Amino acid sequence: MDDRQLIRTAIDNLPNSYVPYSHFHVSAALLCKDGTVYTGNNIENAAYSATVCAERSAFFRALNEGKREFEAIVICGGMNGEIADYCAPCGVCRQGMRGFCSPESFRIILAKTEDDYRVFTLEELLPLGFGPENLR
Ligand code: THU
Repeated sequence: MDDRQLIRTAIDNLPNSYVPYSHFHVSAALLCKDGTVYTGNNIENAAYSATVCAERSAFFRALNEGKREFEAIVICGGMNGEIADYCAPCGVCRQGMRGFCSPESFRIILAKTEDDYRVFTLEELLPLGFGPENLR
């Protein structure tokens, strides 16, 4: 799957967010190294801290199916499901990715449309991160 197809998958998945409190929809499409793709959405909760972000939803789906190697993630979102700007991952999600992805090669794609997107490495969005190698 190429970047444009991954972006299309994330955008099509945006309505699946459950966001009765913030009304801010976020969708992620995670590409595994074996070519499989897992989508995820933000799922909010009346006890706000129990909310799960779209990125970690996608990772948890993949991890629960035994996936451990990841290539890239597309993130998109916006208020009322309208993508007006790039939607950057929160700090917790950046750290979550750091637990499973190579900082130098894992790509984080922030998309508005299939033609309007920005690509970062995990290292660019989380410099000097703390990862599994620190515990070896
Ligand atoms: N949100 C995500 O899903 N991912 C992020 O990285 C940023 C924030 C969600 C959480 C909450 O449902 C809404 O956006 C507003 O914070």
